[in-house]
Amino acid sequence: MILARNFRTAQIAPLFIFLIGSIYGCGEKKKENDTHTKPASEQESEVPSPVESADVPEYMAEGQKVYAQYCLSCHQVNGTGVSRLNPPLKDTDYVLGDKNRLLGILVNGSNVGLEIRGETYSNAMPSFKQLDDTELAHVASYIRNSFGNSATPVTIGEVSTFRTKSENQK
Ligand code: HEC
Repeated sequence: MILARNFRTAQIAPLFIFLIGSIYGCGEKKKENDTHTKPASEQESEVPSPVESADVPEYMAEGQKVYAQYCLSCHQVNGTGVSRLNPPLKDTDYVLGDKNRLLGILVNGSNVGLEIRGETYSNAMPSFKQLDDTELAHVASYIRNSFGNSATPVTIGEVSTFRTKSENQK
């Protein structure tokens, strides 16, 4: 008799554990789905690393803010510049050409009396080395793709590479 009873409990116990386990397991799964809409691996593949490919809409929106704060007063809202004082940013080699030369002007400033389309400019371009890599990438990409310009964006990675290289040269 006693033996038979014990035998029964022993048979049922694992079943209970299994049931409780699966109820608890379901709850856990639900909770996970609520907090993370997508698995981490999927989320990552949707957001490309800015080092490899600049997210142009974001760069343009952020770059416009940097431009309005630091550049607009001299180069004007449409990049026309001011005759004989500040050069235009529309369709110039400095803006559209070599990215490192462009970054060089932004980081070091320039006061050499640049000649653009037969006109020289007497004002001085201040250094913007206080801007971080992200701000510089944004504003450089913005001017390369505004005022009728169209050129590949400058990535944050390219700015940091430029900075590392020019620091090593010193
Ligand atoms: C105080 C006025 C002033 C401000 C502010 C200023 N610049 Fe300039 N910028 C100049 C002048 C003047 C030159 C020409 C420098 C020279 O003759 O050596 C110039 C030259 C340039 C050039 C190269 C020439 C060209 O026209 O393509 C670029 C590119 C440029 N600036 C971009 C910028 C950006 C981007 C900002 C903001 C982060 C900025 N500048 C802020 C006055 C300014």
